[in-house]
Amino acid sequence: MNGQRLLLLLLSFLLLLFRQISATDFVINRFNSSSVLLYGNATIESHILTLTKDSTFSIGRALYPTKIAAKKPNSSYVLPFSTSFIFAMAPNKLYNPGHGIVFLFVPKTGIDGTAASQNLGLLNLTNLGNPDDHLFGVEFDVFKNEEFKDISDSHVGIDINSLVSDFAHDAGYWPDDGQPFKTVKMNNGKTYQVWIDYADSRINVTMAPTGMKRPKQPLLNATVNLSQVFQDEMYVGFTSSTGQLVQSHKILAWSYSNTNFSLSEALITNGLPSFELPKEPIFKQKGFIVGVTVGVVLVFILTSLSSFVLVKIYLRRKREREEMEEWELEYWPHRMTYQEIEAATKDFSEENVIGIGGNGKVYKGTLVGGAEVAVKRISHQNSEGMREFVSEVSSLGRLKHRNLVGLRGWCKKEKGSFILVYDYMENGSLDERIFLRDNSKLLSCEERIRILKDVASALFYLHEGWESKVLHRDIKASNVLLDKDMNARLGDFGLARMHDHNQMAATTHVVGTIGYMAPELIKSGKSSTQTDVFSFGILILEVLCGRTPIDEGKPLLVDWVLELLRLDELINALDERVKANGGFNEEEVERVLHLGLLCAHPDPNVRPTMRQVVKLLEGKNPELVDESEDEDSELYLLDKMKTRNFRWPDMSFSSSSQSQSHPTFDEIREGLSSSMTISWSKSMAVGR
Ligand SMILES: *[C@@H]1O[C@H](CO)[C@@H](O)[C@H](O)[C@H]1NC(C)=O
Ligand SMILES: *[C@@H]1O[C@H](CO)[C@@H](O)[C@H](O)[C@H]1NC(C)=O
Ligand SMILES: *[C@@H]1O[C@H](CO)[C@@H](O)[C@H](O)[C@H]1NC(C)=O
Ligand SMILES: *[C@@H]1O[C@H](CO)[C@@H](O)[C@H](O)[C@H]1NC(C)=O
Ligand SMILES: *[C@@H]1O[C@H](CO)[C@@H](O)[C@H](O)[C@H]1NC(C)=O
Ligand SMILES: *[C@@H]1O[C@H](CO)[C@@H](O)[C@H](O)[C@H]1NC(C)=O
Ligand SMILES: *[C@@H]1O[C@H](CO)[C@@H](O)[C@H](O)[C@H]1NC(C)=O
Ligand SMILES: *[C@@H]1O[C@H](CO)[C@@H](O)[C@H](O)[C@H]1NC(C)=O
Repeated sequence: MNGQRLLLLLLSFLLLLFRQISATDFVINRFNSSSVLLYGNATIESHILTLTKDSTFSIGRALYPTKIAAKKPNSSYVLPFSTSFIFAMAPNKLYNPGHGIVFLFVPKTGIDGTAASQNLGLLNLTNLGNPDDHLFGVEFDVFKNEEFKDISDSHVGIDINSLVSDFAHDAGYWPDDGQPFKTVKMNNGKTYQVWIDYADSRINVTMAPTGMKRPKQPLLNATVNLSQVFQDEMYVGFTSSTGQLVQSHKILAWSYSNTNFSLSEALITNGLPSFELPKEPIFKQKGFIVGVTVGVVLVFILTSLSSFVLVKIYLRRKREREEMEEWELEYWPHRMTYQEIEAATKDFSEENVIGIGGNGKVYKGTLVGGAEVAVKRISHQNSEGMREFVSEVSSLGRLKHRNLVGLRGWCKKEKGSFILVYDYMENGSLDERIFLRDNSKLLSCEERIRILKDVASALFYLHEGWESKVLHRDIKASNVLLDKDMNARLGDFGLARMHDHNQMAATTHVVGTIGYMAPELIKSGKSSTQTDVFSFGILILEVLCGRTPIDEGKPLLVDWVLELLRLDELINALDERVKANGGFNEEEVERVLHLGLLCAHPDPNVRPTMRQVVKLLEGKNPELVDESEDEDSELYLLDKMKTRNFRWPDMSFSSSSQSQSHPTFDEIREGLSSSMTISWSKSMAVGR
């Protein structure tokens, strides 16, 4: 009995060891230069793996950076694998689209021995059919080549050392509800998800439009014994080519596993761009002539009113198509049509207005499919500014964080006017919640602190979580929105500009909101992460105190809180209505208020970074703790914040410069309030 158990234990241990040695698992939702090895024309653009360029006869290949175990060493046992990826074949409006993408296993790196066009960047005519190729591929081919016995101009095939598929099927899927097979034209610029599962010589290939649940019935199922094809270790990846038929073939996400056949669920399938070409101008479409003829008849038959409507719609569409400029195609992802937005907002009806922002009205809308959105119009951009703006918007559309309001799309309406489409936030904006009179919806102290944590984590993501630094530049309560679960989400990137990390963030004109702008921003006009931190500090005070930063006839909010601190009555800064309800942790409130004051320090060098802010708000979060960072500085800071004689820790965050002597509290107060006053009066002048 015991011996049996021991054996079992030993066996499972060995199995575990074997799995650990040989299993490969990865999920790539955003490609970067270290995710894959690139060959030929393959590049990574905006975190999308772009295999071929918009040029004739291009080949591109991308492989996982290391060889992976494909077989149990020196045996015929092929490891099971499950892979899933999302691809798009983006058409070029000047050419007919072709040729295709292949998911492949290959024994070596590089693209030697391959050819473009119908050879798919897989093999050339010399090595075709050679068992020494050790090549296994699943092709997604959009051209019918008779020489390779292709079955159609949109098919999926299983290739072994050959371009003639052993098994093939028209691209498409069987819907789960028993409907007949749906064929798919793969080269239309839409994104499709593919699942390839292999175990015990059985292979399943399934595909569906991205976002759809994986269909139960595979597109292709076959018996393929790969033990002679695979070497013990193989490279895995994608290869692709174009000919005179030009198309940009893209992989947007990819997962691979030997052990977890559900890993594909970790792929992000929403918010992906589409690469469809804009529809042909209406006057070039076949149906147009017919339509106009019928229209003319209708003009005579129907009232003049209906013809008026018809002409109006036609003119508007035409105007819109013509305004599509060449450069806009570069930013095609996320573009929506005006008609789509118009339908969603019931023609921008007044009853759909949910707010009025600095730039215009904000409408609530419902997209086809039921998603609720907030639609915002932005006007007054000059042509150059507009281009900059679109590029910005299209990059920001790829920013994803649970505490950022998701940007769904944009649309250029007419010269100088833009429409942005955001996810709809059920619970409105934070300022409404803080300053509302209805006490039943009052935010508790706990909720307020949670909201501040959410905003801090969003801002930290903007500052450091992305490969280019993004400044928000307009943090304030009305830009913080609450979703249906009362999670806070930072919104309105209209004013943000992107900066590469390490690059000095400098801009030419001052943006922001009075009361939230750091003194040095008003003086120099230069935004930085520290000016964002300043605004966040003001937001902390505003949210906890329930007071606006600047209120006519009252001291500045910062001044007032500092005064309470001096009197050792900091807790009295807490919103009276919240305080009356009780049930809060006094120490925590004071700590967060201290942090607010520190963030709003007039000297930018003294302000903490968002990384430090998040850490201080959250307590110790191992994910965020950078081990190289000096833990003591935080502890020191916390300690200082707790003492009554609140002293600004001079340069406490940069160990390079040593503090000489701590200023007294009065000096600080003096300094802070005078700089605040200066900043305020200056900004008022700027405002005028
Ligand atoms: C690049 O992508 C890989 C996954 O493919 C990830 O592990 C790595 O953290 C990414 N690097 C950066 C700098 O984002
Ligand atoms: C990309 O394709 C063009 C055209 O085929 C070719 O001239 C160029 O060498 C390719 N680039 C690489 C890096 O292979
Ligand atoms: C596999 O076979 C090769 C030569 O045939 C040998 O050198 C190697 O040690 C073997 N590896 C294992 C794990 O048996
Ligand atoms: C195919 O590739 C191999 C290896 O690079 C090369 O020797 C051969 O000449 C190529 N054949 C053709 C037809 O291009
Ligand atoms: C292939 O699909 C069939 C039917 O859905 C399933 O029974 C089988 O387990 C699948 N095989 C693999 C290797 O995933
Ligand atoms: C695959 O083929 C090898 C010989 O080439 C054989 O030893 C092995 O049993 C086969 N595997 C399956 C699952 O049929
Ligand atoms: C496997 O493919 C055959 C046709 O090749 C089909 O008849 C069968 O239904 C498929 N099985 C599954 C489980 O999809
Ligand atoms: C497999 O991957 C999915 C998606 O990431 C995950 O939810 C699941 O827990 C994983 N299963 C195992 C056994 O690791």
